[in-house]
Amino acid sequence: MNNIKPVTARTFQKMKDNNEKITMLTAYDFSTAKYIDECGVDSILIGDSLGMTILGYDTTINVTIEDMLTFTKAVSNGVQRALVIADMPFLSYHISKEQTTLNAGKLIQAGAKAVKLEGASDFILDEILHLTQSGINVVGHLGFTPQYINTIGGYFIQGKSYENTLKLLQAAKKLEENGAFAVVLEMVPEESAKFISENLSIPTIGIGAGKYCDGQVLVIDDILGKYPGNVPRFVKQYANMQEIMKNAISQYNQEVKNGEFPFKEHSFNLSDEEREKLEYNLIK
Ligand code: KIV
Repeated sequence: MNNIKPVTARTFQKMKDNNEKITMLTAYDFSTAKYIDECGVDSILIGDSLGMTILGYDTTINVTIEDMLTFTKAVSNGVQRALVIADMPFLSYHISKEQTTLNAGKLIQAGAKAVKLEGASDFILDEILHLTQSGINVVGHLGFTPQYINTIGGYFIQGKSYENTLKLLQAAKKLEENGAFAVVLEMVPEESAKFISENLSIPTIGIGAGKYCDGQVLVIDDILGKYPGNVPRFVKQYANMQEIMKNAISQYNQEVKNGEFPFKEHSFNLSDEEREKLEYNLIK
């Protein structure tokens, strides 16, 4: 037994009520999740951004529930404190309430403590109500919603006018009414996100939505400088993993090709007695 107190949906609400910022990062594997957890980040999202960062697709659309289950298990095995949230991928909550509940339930059985769904159409709101009434914690996702990339038509900032900000607020309020315990706001002007955050009871978690949200989330590969593709303007890169990885890999490649690696300390050796027997046999 340890005395680590896990972060829950209730903790999120308390943090908002006490004006404490909520931190969240994505993770997709065991060791990264463990480091994020040990650094005291409040929440880990197994984002369907893994479609790009791990699987190398152009968008999140190709990610399946099976993909999400594998990475959710890996991340959950590394976490003791942070609240683990898994993205429901494209098409996993669009067919029927039965399928939505089954898929969300599988993610929970894989170790997630909550699921995240994009959008707030009447259909999605119904699904969210059904999930929350079934005992499954739900996070909403508004503003730029990557699973709608084909209908949005590009990576556009959302809520850029007074009217559109009001629409986003109405959508966020509906998510709240249907039981969501937090809402991710992606690529929304800072002022709009501030207005929404101040007029909503549940916490907002911003990504490219300015500093007034109740919390922040970013993609781990982006902040570590590991993702080889384009990195959005709202990301701060805290390390250059690409450089660190390439240096180490090139050095290994060179040392093997030069016959330097493995060095003495990386090799196992026979005792003198056994080596002598071997040498004697070779000579014979
Ligand atoms: O898929 C993802 O990683 C996300 C966020 C970064 C919010 O949804």
